[in-house]
Amino acid sequence: MRLVHVTDLHFGAEDPDVVAGLRADLAGQDIDRVLVSGDLTMRARTGQFRAARTLLESIGRPWTSVPGNHDLPLDRVLTRALRPLDGYRRFVDAQPQPMLHADGLQVLGLSTARPYLWKNGRVDAGQVARIGSVFTAAARLRVLMVHHPVFRSAQRPGLTLLHGAGRALRAAARAGVDVVICGHDHVAAQADLSLTRPGLGRHMIGVMSGTACSRRVRAGESQSYTVLELSGERLRLRVRHWRGGRFETRSETEWRRTADGWHA
Ligand SMILES: [Fe+2]
Repeated sequence: MRLVHVTDLHFGAEDPDVVAGLRADLAGQDIDRVLVSGDLTMRARTGQFRAARTLLESIGRPWTSVPGNHDLPLDRVLTRALRPLDGYRRFVDAQPQPMLHADGLQVLGLSTARPYLWKNGRVDAGQVARIGSVFTAAARLRVLMVHHPVFRSAQRPGLTLLHGAGRALRAAARAGVDVVICGHDHVAAQADLSLTRPGLGRHMIGVMSGTACSRRVRAGESQSYTVLELSGERLRLRVRHWRGGRFETRSETEWRRTADGWHA
């Protein structure tokens, strides 16, 4: 099973060369599914959603997506308050909180952007309950995907985490989740989440990727995405960074699943 995590595409601030490079690089990978953890656009404009959708369709593989804070309109106050996900629902996915169960893969995507929070995110009690109820032991890989970070990267240690991340992660650990995917930070990072949050009782892998194709790079780090390859009880993570006009693998880690979760 080979998955790709792309995030923070930020159409409206995209770099056309990187977009083309991303498309070409993904075409060269034998991908089963693309996971998109939000901020597809800069300002939730129709043209920006359409451009993001066009890129995703051009990969030619199924994809699963959640919205990010930039996918809510910032400057249209009434729309933001009353129908914040209108554009996302119309142009990306009518279901902003997808639950996928296919070919041994389970993905629960949650929408964590809120109209009343500027750029931070929140997971609420209903969403936590959903984490606790949807995952099944039969799946080969259980993935929870949100836009806002559930752990801090070494590159940007001061960033605000998803409000409610602790409750969400405890529910995920109890539900046997394997990987928690997030974005927003615009840097690539991975973590054993039980080390970032003691008491979880399960070693889950936190995966964060950089902005896939926008000019909004942070901490001096280039655009990136992550390939997750599951074979048996091993998960190989390859982070591919934009460098010298193409994407190339800059880091590679392998995790192994045991009774209490995943170990690097
Ligand atoms: Fe974001």
